[in-house]
Amino acid sequence: MSLLRVERVSKHFGSLIAVNNISMTVEPGELRAIIGPNGAGKTTFFNLITGFFSPTIGRIVFDGKDVTHLAPAERVHSGMARTSQITEIFPELTVRENLRIAVEVASGLRLRAWLSQNDDGKIRDRVAELLATSGLAEKAERPVGELSHGDQRATEIMMALALKPRLLLLDEPTAGMGDQETYDITQLIRRLHKDSKLTIVLIEHDMRVVFHLADRIMVLDQGKFLAEGTPREIAANEAVQTAYLGQAA
Ligand SMILES: Nc1ncnc2c1ncn2[C@@H]1O[C@H](COP(=O)(O)OP(=O)(O)O)[C@@H](O)[C@H]1O
Ligand SMILES: [Mg+2]
Repeated sequence: MSLLRVERVSKHFGSLIAVNNISMTVEPGELRAIIGPNGAGKTTFFNLITGFFSPTIGRIVFDGKDVTHLAPAERVHSGMARTSQITEIFPELTVRENLRIAVEVASGLRLRAWLSQNDDGKIRDRVAELLATSGLAEKAERPVGELSHGDQRATEIMMALALKPRLLLLDEPTAGMGDQETYDITQLIRRLHKDSKLTIVLIEHDMRVVFHLADRIMVLDQGKFLAEGTPREIAANEAVQTAYLGQAA
């Protein structure tokens, strides 16, 4: 069974059709990229999947269940987690503290006045596990606000993972990053996909970032479906090349 099925969704903002009749199916374990020039409707499409907006038309099925009208928190509960184009961390807290908050929220133990030694131990273990996967263990005691943009983004991705999602959605995880940071984040995403067998939907405007990462790529342009295929197929697609001509991407 497909993990995610988006069926002919559209989103209108007044007279603007930001997402125009788009369908997408994601299989368990897949790494799917959605690319397209700025304004293509990628973030809006993502917001429809995660429940930030309701589609004007269409249906979204996650794990066999119709989630079209579920609130974002309910979708998180059913196994979706996301990061957005803007980093959302607590900059004055350390990496470990940020991850601890996420793990406490995920386990329903946040804001308990008192934690049993057993619960506390489990939280610590899970935080240590996330730190090890992230490659941030050496920076665990540093305030996140002092770290590079890439390390902040890595922290944020690990906070989303604390929720143990079955689908991780990343909106331009390398936005605004230099080459080294882009490479590091790409490697982290690759590890999560290959080692943890996590299903990932990744939005990018830079085709090069996803070329060596994605199993399949869907291309949007001005709200419309343009193409879908393997990275090789997409790179050779003339309509895609035309859409990207003159773009800073
Ligand atoms: N909340 C909103 N209200 C009105 N228009 C919006 C809103 N969000 C996005 N748009 C418009 O929808 C189009 C697609 O935007 P977006 O989904 O952010 O594209 P992308 O992420 O591909 O750059 C743009 O023209 C944008 O201005
Ligand atoms: Mg966007």
